[in-house]
Amino acid sequence: MSAEVARIGLLGLGTVGSAFRDLVSQRAEAVAASSGRRPEIAGVLRTTEGDFDHILETSEIVVELIGGTDPARDYVLRALKAGRHVVTANKQLIAQFGDELFDAARDAGVELRFEAAVAGVVPVIRVIQESLAATEVSKVFGIVNGTTNFILSEMASTGVSFADALRRAQELGYAEADPTDDVDGADAAAKMAILARLAFGAPVALADVTYEGITEIQPDDIAYAKELGLSLKLLGVAERRDGGLSVRVFPCFLYPGHPLAPVEGPFNAVMVEAPAITEITMSGPGAGGVETASAVLGDVVSILSGRTPVHAAREPLEIVRDQSSSFYLHLEVADRPGVLARIADVLGRNEVSVRSVVQRGLGDDARLVMVMHEGPETRFFAALEQIATLDFLRAQPRAIRVIEEEFV
Ligand SMILES: NC(=O)c1ccc[n+]([C@@H]2O[C@H](COP(=O)([O-])OP(=O)(O)OC[C@H]3O[C@@H](n4cnc5c(N)ncnc54)[C@H](OP(=O)(O)O)[C@@H]3O)[C@@H](O)[C@H]2O)c1
Repeated sequence: MSAEVARIGLLGLGTVGSAFRDLVSQRAEAVAASSGRRPEIAGVLRTTEGDFDHILETSEIVVELIGGTDPARDYVLRALKAGRHVVTANKQLIAQFGDELFDAARDAGVELRFEAAVAGVVPVIRVIQESLAATEVSKVFGIVNGTTNFILSEMASTGVSFADALRRAQELGYAEADPTDDVDGADAAAKMAILARLAFGAPVALADVTYEGITEIQPDDIAYAKELGLSLKLLGVAERRDGGLSVRVFPCFLYPGHPLAPVEGPFNAVMVEAPAITEITMSGPGAGGVETASAVLGDVVSILSGRTPVHAAREPLEIVRDQSSSFYLHLEVADRPGVLARIADVLGRNEVSVRSVVQRGLGDDARLVMVMHEGPETRFFAALEQIATLDFLRAQPRAIRVIEEEFV
């Protein structure tokens, strides 16, 4: 007996949408074998073809692959309110309008799935929502933007500037023509808002996420840190802290034993920590049409199989912004006696303690590269402000966080 058809309305037929349409036709029988329903594309909407009302009428699952929030938000809301399950790969939509969309899905008794919105094909959403539904997660963190990870890997392996590495990423299709959201950290911030919401059952808005990007990173920062055994990543971190929640994105150096240190190129990797599980790490391709389409189809299969994700209770948690961090500090200084002592004096007065110092170059090329022990960020930034005014400094100091955590 042939499986009953499941009709899918497809909004968007770009990189992911067209890969999804191909995948549905290639994998229809396999999906039918595992879920009992054979997926079929009922209609397609793009700027040049299709009619949303007609697609809504003729489908039971709507897959949104348009991107952005307008008109995607309106279409997704209308689909949910009309009792259609929705699958989307759209992180901005979930990060900005998650509350409204989850409420609409709950009210209509339908599912809203978005595995492909975070970490591409890496099944992090499913693991947090389903496998770890009974686990009290303490921290979720990782590399959630493949474009910036490619750029940083390229800078580290070839010594090129940020601008040249970005150009290379664009040539290879790892960065969009307008890469702003990737390189300034906004894309990673949206993904961390989604992960924090799921892991901690708290409504987290994009505005709750503090973020920095990688545009100011210089090749020599990476080169000096390499000498100290450190590698640079753009990390997203969401963790319970002081009874509240801290969610942030920032470039940082990792020591070699860190599980995320070897993650290179356009890959993503997410770690989850909880007392009951110690830690788990998931990694894989962060983007790509076929990869993303595969995650989208996985969500469709889950819906067809009747696997309803557990939606955590939503208690607001206070957002904590004070942090404690270790820092790398790069100073271009005049090569004269007493310089190191004056810097050490400023750091000491602000109770910032130094872990290691490397002196490089002579004369007009003299530099000090220091790594601090972990301490309150407010103290470090106060010291930095004072150091920036010292008369022997030849350029603005550059500071980058260092993750000190030890892993077994
Ligand atoms: N590309 C990736 O590797 C990747 C990875 C993870 C997540 N995502 C997410 O997946 C989604 C789709 O990305 P994509 O790269 O496939 O985008 P894309 O290539 O730009 O395709 C967008 C599609 O949406 C259609 N569209 C745009 N505005 C529309 C409107 N007002 N009404 C109807 N259709 C409209 C376009 O129509 P036309 O064909 O007529 O132009 C196009 O078919 C985004 O949310 C993105 O963030 C993408």
